[in-house]
Amino acid sequence: MIYPIVMYGDAVLRKKASDIEQGTDVKQLVADMFETMYAANGVGLAAPQIGKPVRLFVVDGTSMQDEEEDAEDMTGFKKAFINPVILTEEGEEWDFEEGCLSIPNIREKVSRKEALRIRYYDEDWNLYEEDFDGVKARVIQHEYDHIEGKLFIDYLTPLKKRMLKGKLSDISKGIVDTDYRILAPLRK
Ligand code: NI
Repeated sequence: MIYPIVMYGDAVLRKKASDIEQGTDVKQLVADMFETMYAANGVGLAAPQIGKPVRLFVVDGTSMQDEEEDAEDMTGFKKAFINPVILTEEGEEWDFEEGCLSIPNIREKVSRKEALRIRYYDEDWNLYEEDFDGVKARVIQHEYDHIEGKLFIDYLTPLKKRMLKGKLSDISKGIVDTDYRILAPLRK
């Protein structure tokens, strides 16, 4: 099932999401989230973006592979992260242009640390502790922010934010061009 994607301005995107009770059957939800993400050509999707304030996100960076010749190896970077905890973040901060399915048609450079260690469950409730760096870490950091109620635009300078104000206001009213179904909080 493909869910509509919740737009900027909806309170669910600003909530700190709750853990999912261990052992809960999340297979259908995970499958639906992948389906929703692919339908919108995203590389990551967090549960709050489909209106569910729980600690779950999915990523699939394998499509980023062929976009740039010097891109890092994204093979196997298709995963569901359930009740994840970022244990450490380290390395130099680096700029990378981020976008978000909940904030369509806006892309801005965000600076974040280059590596992280994360503990999470997969959809079968197997526990993992893994290290990621580069673009993989970046995708995880962006999605992890979603379950903490944070958005990438929170990192922008006050000036940049001011410049985006009109666009953001339009997005929350559903005045935005997307090729996927959206749910805008202030749509009349
Ligand atoms: Ni996002």
